[in-house]
Amino acid sequence: MLSYRHSFHAGNYADVLKHFTLQRIFSYLVKKEKPIHYIDSHAGAGGYALHSPEAEKTGEYIKGIMRLAQRDDRPELLDEYLALVKQFHYQKDNLRHYPGSPWIAAHSLREQDRLFLYELHPSDHKQLLTQTRKDKRVQVKLGDGFKGALAHLPPISRRGLLLIDPPYEIKSDYQKVVKLIVEAHKRFATGCIALWYPVVERGWVNELETAIKATGIANSVLFELSQSADRSGYGMTASGMIVINPPWTLKSELDSVLPYLADVLGEQGQGKYRSEQLTAE
Ligand SMILES: C[S@@+](CC[C@H](N)C(=O)[O-])C[C@H]1O[C@@H](n2cnc3c(N)ncnc32)[C@H](O)[C@@H]1O
Repeated sequence: MLSYRHSFHAGNYADVLKHFTLQRIFSYLVKKEKPIHYIDSHAGAGGYALHSPEAEKTGEYIKGIMRLAQRDDRPELLDEYLALVKQFHYQKDNLRHYPGSPWIAAHSLREQDRLFLYELHPSDHKQLLTQTRKDKRVQVKLGDGFKGALAHLPPISRRGLLLIDPPYEIKSDYQKVVKLIVEAHKRFATGCIALWYPVVERGWVNELETAIKATGIANSVLFELSQSADRSGYGMTASGMIVINPPWTLKSELDSVLPYLADVLGEQGQGKYRSEQLTAE
């Protein structure tokens, strides 16, 4: 079953948190010359039209990236992320577009770095291939990223980032992400792993956090941004990132920006955030 299409959700508040966090991780990783391998287990189409029927149907980007881009009181730390978003936007004849994680990665990384992108949906895979075909650093795979991602670990240079960003359409994804984290960490204990999660039912996220703590994997942080208060049965109200082996600068950076994002992207004063050390260093 592959009914999830990211084109309905591109540029929403969840993408803002995810892609801002990614950008900050890359900005730290590229300070050292050694090559970085980026593995995206659920890469999506690579970029999305915000004027598409799908995006217009939900209008999620209007309460996400559009709201943020229209502000002139943003913390400076958001500048590089927004510059990337605007770079993608203007590339496409000034139409409204929003980049996906592969594009954010490709434009944050350097010549010596490599990208391995997995996507299971044939039409998203095709779009991703088209977007990246001139980039010799990129390998795009049509396949199951839960399985494929492990083949790239550890990177030869022992420097890399694995992004795990499944749709969670099937409840078993909550267990599969933990399994992938455990296997990835076995192969590459010093690697950075970033997991995105939605808050649809708070109980499922509590279980996810408990499962990650139970793995015994040290040094993980959790960042969460709510658009509205938890409500069972009404779809996603918040989303978060769990980062294993984060750059040491990441938590203080997110701490300085999350209150602003919660204020700007939250609905009628309901915006909240969490920033926690999930497992000790
Ligand atoms: C949340 S979207 C990815 C968004 C993307 N990472 C970004 O930030 O721009 C999840 C994607 O995973 C794809 N997908 C679903 N199951 C998959 C699997 N087992 N392996 C690889 N991709 C999968 C879906 O087709 C969808 O495009």
